[in-house]
Amino acid sequence: MTQILVTGGTGYIGSHTVVELQNAGYEVVIVDDLSNSNIDVLDNITKITGKKLAFEQFNLADAAKTDEFFSRNKNIAAIIHFAASKAVGESVQIPLHYYRNNLVSLMNLLDCQLKYGVANIVFSSSCTVYGQPDKLPVTESTPRKDAESPYGNTKRVNEDILHDTIHANPQLKGIALRYFNPIGAHPSALIGELPLGVPQNLVPFITQTAAGLRKELSIFGNDYDTVDGSAVRDYINVVDLAKAHVIAIERLLKGKNKAGYEVFNLGTGNGSSVLEIVNAFEKVTGVKLNYIIVPRRAGDIEKIWADTTYANNELGWKAEKGLEETLLSAWNWEKRVRRIQ
Ligand code: UD1
Repeated sequence: MTQILVTGGTGYIGSHTVVELQNAGYEVVIVDDLSNSNIDVLDNITKITGKKLAFEQFNLADAAKTDEFFSRNKNIAAIIHFAASKAVGESVQIPLHYYRNNLVSLMNLLDCQLKYGVANIVFSSSCTVYGQPDKLPVTESTPRKDAESPYGNTKRVNEDILHDTIHANPQLKGIALRYFNPIGAHPSALIGELPLGVPQNLVPFITQTAAGLRKELSIFGNDYDTVDGSAVRDYINVVDLAKAHVIAIERLLKGKNKAGYEVFNLGTGNGSSVLEIVNAFEKVTGVKLNYIIVPRRAGDIEKIWADTTYANNELGWKAEKGLEETLLSAWNWEKRVRRIQ
């Protein structure tokens, strides 16, 4: 069996991707420092797939540990690199932590790829690299803009590190996947998004408000130039997103890539406003949400959604799950975690 290293594999997108990789017949080894995830995720992945996986706990910014890991694991055919710090606000407070964690871990992986002959890597990037685009929807060739936060900058700089390293070492091949806004949970409700502390992202805040953990949802701004004044994003189901990673891995392993370094947008192609998300959530769950309108959040952009033509045509991949089904999956996950009937 072909072995794939999934860094950050107990995290939100990582865990869903491990499930899809195992379902597709790959052997998975996870490396995660558990700084923002729980060891129980491993059992829940196994409950879904019925397959065993290997797990090691360490931080990939530690060069010696990373090297030692590769020296013992000589059968890795490809890497999917999710492991990273991802809280935008926190990254403004402790930028060095973000730069060290997010940049050094990728550099350590690339060093080991060269040393141990691991050709393929898929990197978790983000639509944050586009900032507020001048033209919508955004294609892969839409110019990137200066990042709004150290977190966003680590995505941008990591793309450059990957591009430049592959350019200098043609034996390497890489794909950067620019995620729009991943939401929802596995239909089994066994894995999902479990933020530590107060959620920063919209959908976990909604489900926690519906579950009674939060008094009310604050909607950040209703004076944007959008359909109803609230900000617009392209929300993509996390299982759809996970499946794109399996396709990206197959593309690299089968040599179907058209360049050493490739970039794909992963979104649905549709924008939804915050109020539209709230209304869809209430409709599909039957739960009334308390919300208030508050001023815009610093650093937020007004609107963005993906042009998915390139991913659709080149990867043969398309987001399949609708918004209501996806929001219901997020609610079912929250209900299971909070033991709500
Ligand atoms: C943010 C990051 C993005 C990162 C993603 C990770 C920025 C600019 N972007 O995306 O880089 O990859 O998180 O998931 O920071 N909202 C509310 N009330 C809330 C929470 C959110 O109204 O309590 C609104 C926001 O203003 C925004 C939308 O909901 O319009 C989505 O917010 P969020 O889920 O935080 O994602 P982004 O900010 O788009």
